[in-house]
Amino acid sequence: MPAIEDEAPLKNLKEGSSLVTPPKEHKKSNDNDDKSTVSITVVGASGDLAKKKIFPALFALYYEDCLPKHFTIFGYARSKMTDAELRNMVRKTLTCRIDKRENCGEKMEEFLSRCFYQSGQYDSEENFEELDKKLKEHETGRVSNRLFYLSIPPNIFVNAVKCATLSATSANGWTRVIVEKPFGRDSESSAALTSALKQYLEEDQIFRIDHYLGKELIENLSVLRFSNLIFEPLWSRQYIRNVQLIFSEDFGTEGRGGYFDHYGIIRDIMQNHLLQILAIFAMETPVSLDAEDIRNEKVKVLRSMMPLRADDVVIGQYKSHTKGGVSYPGYTDDKTVPKDSLTPTFAAAALFINNARWDGVPFLMKAGKALHNRRAEIRVQFRHVPGNLYNRSFGTDLDRATNELVIRVQPDEAIYLKINNKVPGLGMRLDRSNLNLLYKARYSKEIPCAYERLLLDAIEGERRLFIRSDELDAAWSLFTPLLKELDEKKIIPEYYPYGSRGPVGAHYLAAKYNVKWGDLGVEE
Ligand code: BG6
Repeated sequence: MPAIEDEAPLKNLKEGSSLVTPPKEHKKSNDNDDKSTVSITVVGASGDLAKKKIFPALFALYYEDCLPKHFTIFGYARSKMTDAELRNMVRKTLTCRIDKRENCGEKMEEFLSRCFYQSGQYDSEENFEELDKKLKEHETGRVSNRLFYLSIPPNIFVNAVKCATLSATSANGWTRVIVEKPFGRDSESSAALTSALKQYLEEDQIFRIDHYLGKELIENLSVLRFSNLIFEPLWSRQYIRNVQLIFSEDFGTEGRGGYFDHYGIIRDIMQNHLLQILAIFAMETPVSLDAEDIRNEKVKVLRSMMPLRADDVVIGQYKSHTKGGVSYPGYTDDKTVPKDSLTPTFAAAALFINNARWDGVPFLMKAGKALHNRRAEIRVQFRHVPGNLYNRSFGTDLDRATNELVIRVQPDEAIYLKINNKVPGLGMRLDRSNLNLLYKARYSKEIPCAYERLLLDAIEGERRLFIRSDELDAAWSLFTPLLKELDEKKIIPEYYPYGSRGPVGAHYLAAKYNVKWGDLGVEE
């Protein structure tokens, strides 16, 4: 192999710079015009989500020079706090990019000096008027664009939206509201929430976040598929045997039992995060990368699916377990959870898409808390090679050792493809090896947190990664009948020990469709 003479191209490649100009680059702040300003109000500023995700993501955007030149951040919550107190609270949550530590302290202070606080009730128009006054002072006559991030419990969404829009809407720029799930508990409550929000907002002002759509590997899913000739022709029932969408966490509800018990794992993870991934995975090629074109294709997938049937679903709940002298609590040991709760903390389901591309291909979902590891991944198992020449002589059953494409969303982002390969040597022995794209080995840049991408998109008015109301309706129609049945029949979950691989029922469900979960193999 010739020596590499010029390292620059290699370096560029390593850092992920592309030779092709992307259709849309996020603007750096110095491109922004001087005449407008963006005010971002985090409603529920002292809550967990705000502290853990929203403020750090806003700082990261500032640090990367991605926020507009003129911006102000307001924290809004009920507790009394001064600007300085808010800054101290936020300061504790900020970190610098591992790969870019220069001037970090300075940048933090600059960022914090643009953060302010306004205390108020979530249902008080008067308090929002006070906020409006303060926002105006900072907007100093520029065109004012306003983004409200509702980081508050769903039962106060509508009141907060009402007050924010009646009292603090921008007079001459845009006003947008970011809301985060849960968007209701079923089709009816979700529709009621949508229509209540639409009393005050147009659909294009509502940014419904599903933070999984902001994750790097989910964003890459379409790139992988639509810009590589080798994948798209295989993306159908002809070559794909099954698709698995797996989410697991190695911790329980820890402190969130009150919220969780009202929703359960199916509403918390499957109906949104996993279903969204499925829709992007399975959609037809959109006309363009425009938000509406992509969302149209996603809705089509959801509408082509059959509602879940109870006999295609397994539910579980974790129970206490002692391991190595340490005892781990069961779900109902959580003080905020009723002792007789039947809420599932684990679920596995088989879903089907009734269209020409996917007819008969099982899409298996599995999501659980308090399992043996933390992981989110997509596994695509391909069909076996017909009449495989190597089948007989080599001991291994090549019909089972099919190719598998794994897209590991987290942790340790990676895309790898399992192939059958000849073990080097004079003999003829086969093994399974991975063609492996491990992100941390390939790219030196730190991967941005999902909230950074989503916040930036909301500021720029890019709706591609947000859920449209018809998508939400379609998603709920798939799950609502099942959820009602589980509630009405009081179906008892299968208990599994904290830290285990979950209920055995999940294996039977997979076996019913001749599938083996890919994450349970020896080499995974
Ligand atoms: C949230 C769920 O939407 O996603 C939580 O409500 C879950 O229960 C979380 O823990 C997982 O997100 P991430 O990004 O940590 O995988």
